[in-house]
Amino acid sequence: MAKVFNVGLIGCGHIAETYFRAHKYFNNFKITKCADINQNAANKCAKINKIKAVTIKELLSDTGIKIILNLTIPAAHYEVAKQALLNGKHVYSEKPLAINFQDGKKLIKLAKKKKLYVGNAPDTFLGGGSQKSRDLLDKKVIGKVIFGNAIFAYPGIQSYHPNPESWFAKKGGGPVVDMGPYYLTALVNLLGPAKEVLSQSEKGKETRVIGIGPKKGKKFKVMCPTTYFSTIKFLNGTVIRLTLSFDVISHLRNHIELYGDKGSMIVPDPNMFGGSVLISKKLGSTWKNFKTNKMTLGKINIKSQSSRANESPTNANYRGVGLSEMIKAIQTKKIHKCNGDLSLHVLSIIDSIHKSARKRKKQKISYLCKRPTIFTKQEIKSIIR
Ligand SMILES: NC(=O)c1ccc[n+]([C@@H]2O[C@H](COP(=O)([O-])OP(=O)(O)OC[C@H]3O[C@@H](n4cnc5c(N)ncnc54)[C@H](O)[C@@H]3O)[C@@H](O)[C@H]2O)c1
Repeated sequence: MAKVFNVGLIGCGHIAETYFRAHKYFNNFKITKCADINQNAANKCAKINKIKAVTIKELLSDTGIKIILNLTIPAAHYEVAKQALLNGKHVYSEKPLAINFQDGKKLIKLAKKKKLYVGNAPDTFLGGGSQKSRDLLDKKVIGKVIFGNAIFAYPGIQSYHPNPESWFAKKGGGPVVDMGPYYLTALVNLLGPAKEVLSQSEKGKETRVIGIGPKKGKKFKVMCPTTYFSTIKFLNGTVIRLTLSFDVISHLRNHIELYGDKGSMIVPDPNMFGGSVLISKKLGSTWKNFKTNKMTLGKINIKSQSSRANESPTNANYRGVGLSEMIKAIQTKKIHKCNGDLSLHVLSIIDSIHKSARKRKKQKISYLCKRPTIFTKQEIKSIIR
């Protein structure tokens, strides 16, 4: 039987529900206490999940808690993770690691000094869709990948989130901080680290209107660019054109397409765990479908719409696997997959995209990482219930 770690949750908002659901899938953690800057949010979360709500201070000094799960807003990730480390606890945060590269770097340095683990979402690249794509790429099914296209584009969160302002804030706002981590982590898993980027940014609208909740109808000012077009060159030579936008009403492009010298691949949604990988090896040929719905982390596990607006009625969502895998790595003294170096590299790409758009100049990616290792069947089996 796997040893079960008691996890303390800080940040009891929308995504917390998904992590509690992960208790069903993984065998080595249990969220036993929670805290939030807003005590009402912590109390509500504790009541729903039958755990104890405490203050942040109490949680950080609780000797029974070895790991902090940091599900606060991006702008608070750094400070909360830092406090966890300073209190001798491992920490696993939602994406991104921090909202600027310097803070991320300080965090990784502190963790190394304290010999503690820092883990970070996204863990979606550990899902069936990304892992199947990786396997086919490693087997050279489409040969050497030369180019690719990736896109996340939608109209923004203001229509269905009661407090959308932080997505459009000067610090920590914009689509690169919000959705970039999924796409960039998936690409680094598929292609290895990135080396340089050239970017252009635009702001679609100066103001937006809140569409839901107590502030419905209220106008607010957009303080950051909301569309970025980036060309990213990877160390292996692949060039990817990445579009990230909060200004697009609708589109029909694929999330990620990779073009190799022997064929093309369509990679499923990097924000999810399942989906099919499609491959075409000849112009005009039918796309071969590589399904992932029989894979442990690709099986449909969402069969009805939950309370969360961005969760479709049928889907594979195993968020929390990164935390579980990190716990296994702590126990076996190994490097975890959603590790600080990977998330700091991704943060370095995010930072360079912003800088390149601001300066209208190509930027070198300053912090590199190793390409993540494959998530083997054996490794998955060891943490699954
Ligand atoms: N909502 C989603 O669908 C979703 C999906 C994937 C990832 N995420 C990520 O999860 C994180 C949280 O997102 P969310 O949608 O749950 O946000 P949310 O705004 O619903 O919840 C965040 C919670 O953190 C608390 N908080 C803020 N600052 C704090 C601080 N300094 N100390 C303690 N608590 C603090 C807030 O009071 C709030 O209860 C973000 O990093 C987001 O990018 C969200």
